[in-house]
Amino acid sequence: MSLTTQSLSNKVQKLATLVGNTPIRKLWLTPNRFVYMKEEGKNPAGSIKDRPALNMLLHAILNGEVTQGTVIAESTSGNTGIGLAWVCHELGLEYHNYSPSSLSGQKRDILADFGAHLFFSDGGTDDATKMLKAKIENDPDFYFWASQFTNDNNWRAHLENTAPEVLRQVPQAEEVWVAFGSGGTSTGFAHALKNTNVKLQVVQNTVVRERRVEGMRNLAWISKPPIADLDAIGQENMYSTDPDALIDLAERIYQYNDGFIVGPTTAAVITQAERSTAKALVVISADNGSRYLDWANQVTGTAAQPIHTDELLELPV
Ligand SMILES: Cc1ncc(COP(=O)(O)O)c(C=O)c1O
Repeated sequence: MSLTTQSLSNKVQKLATLVGNTPIRKLWLTPNRFVYMKEEGKNPAGSIKDRPALNMLLHAILNGEVTQGTVIAESTSGNTGIGLAWVCHELGLEYHNYSPSSLSGQKRDILADFGAHLFFSDGGTDDATKMLKAKIENDPDFYFWASQFTNDNNWRAHLENTAPEVLRQVPQAEEVWVAFGSGGTSTGFAHALKNTNVKLQVVQNTVVRERRVEGMRNLAWISKPPIADLDAIGQENMYSTDPDALIDLAERIYQYNDGFIVGPTTAAVITQAERSTAKALVVISADNGSRYLDWANQVTGTAAQPIHTDELLELPV
């Protein structure tokens, strides 16, 4: 291992100590009923995606695919890009982020704060992926494409860390509810829960494509992400939700939990989890509602202030 690879690998392993081990809190759905919520918004760059971002780069550094001069690239609807941008910022690597032009101003600001170079496509994340692919084909040696939809180190982050944490933190859990995007969280949990009595339940998006939730993917509209293991997840465990139910639910949660704002994917997951009769439910909350200004304004009925990334970070490396 060269000196620079050694130093990069030391740094990325230090970062690994900052990601994960997120808290579980009781989230009240009514004055008498709560679910256990794993607060992935408490990761250093604000979402569950810090885990796969770090794990994909960790392995690429350890196997020599990424060295100090490599440019990291990804196509993403936001949170994976923010996770990668954060890790790259800490490691002194250049990061190129390809997104649909619908990416929110707030996420653009966070990415820019981490020094990401931003590229935009028309259409959805699949179109951003096509744009990135074309770029890489012209200059394959210059880039490392993290490729969350095909990279096994995405779902393995959840198999090795997120799921064992949940089983430790809530030993009485009967069901774990997660959102479906790349299929990383659901596939990792599906493998981790295989020999347990804990049931995995997955919410893929709303039933109306025009009113879909950013970050989630509905298999009725898009092809299966290559890493998503539908046999392990069990398609009978996958649900879609009513777009009209989300804000009402988030308002209710805001009211019963001292002003806590769930993110849109968490709201989508809970609309379905709420129908379960299981006694101990764990909901994996991928990020916090304050990351989505328009959403947070709707939930609170007031103008919410953006969280500046400086407030999210305390990162001596
Ligand atoms: C807010 C949010 N929730 C859920 C997901 C889905 O997670 P996964 O890609 O692990 O399926 C994503 C993915 O980007 C996301 O950004």
